[in-house]
Amino acid sequence: MKIFLLAILLVLLPLAFLKLCYAISTIFVLGKTKGALFVSTSRAKIEAILDNLPMEPETRLVDLGCGDGRFLRAAFKRYGVKGVGFEINPWAYFLACLWNLLLRVPVKIKRKNFFKEDLSRYDVIFCYLFPDLLLELSPKLQKEVRVGTIIVSANFPLPGWEPYLILRVEDPIYFYCKRPS
Ligand SMILES: C[S@@+](CC[C@H](N)C(=O)[O-])C[C@H]1O[C@@H](n2cnc3c(N)ncnc32)[C@H](O)[C@@H]1O
Repeated sequence: MKIFLLAILLVLLPLAFLKLCYAISTIFVLGKTKGALFVSTSRAKIEAILDNLPMEPETRLVDLGCGDGRFLRAAFKRYGVKGVGFEINPWAYFLACLWNLLLRVPVKIKRKNFFKEDLSRYDVIFCYLFPDLLLELSPKLQKEVRVGTIIVSANFPLPGWEPYLILRVEDPIYFYCKRPS
């Protein structure tokens, strides 16, 4: 009986610790993320997005709020693209760096608020953010991104932008291209 209890504790304690890390990190950045919690895009969605997003190894790819970095790693695996991810949640940032290290994937993760980044240097921008944040991001993208830049928004549309493609994989995924004004 004692061994059984000990085994349960050995499983439950690490799980409780992981949950605590997640909760503390989430509370820590709540003001900036406007509800965009650290929730990952599913494998099925990522593969469907990449099917519709051919890239060259030199493509400058960014994930705005990259979570554990899985989208960037999948893009590297498929196309050899060395993308960049911005993440302010310390727990997500830690996981992204850890996975990159363990899997030896050379994508860059920066612990930085992406609103402080100049987005004009990227060719492909991926994000999975919540509506309040997209509302703020939309004018920044209009102002900064170059003509021809592709923007992909998972689950929620980018206000004021007209998608050229909407995929439906569990949820809608919106594809935009910056056109000349
Ligand atoms: C819904 S998750 C998506 C994670 C990842 N892109 C994916 O698709 O698996 C959104 C992430 O954006 C991060 N985030 C929100 N606002 C941010 C900001 N201003 N700068 C950097 N990261 C931000 C959150 O911490 C969260 O981890």
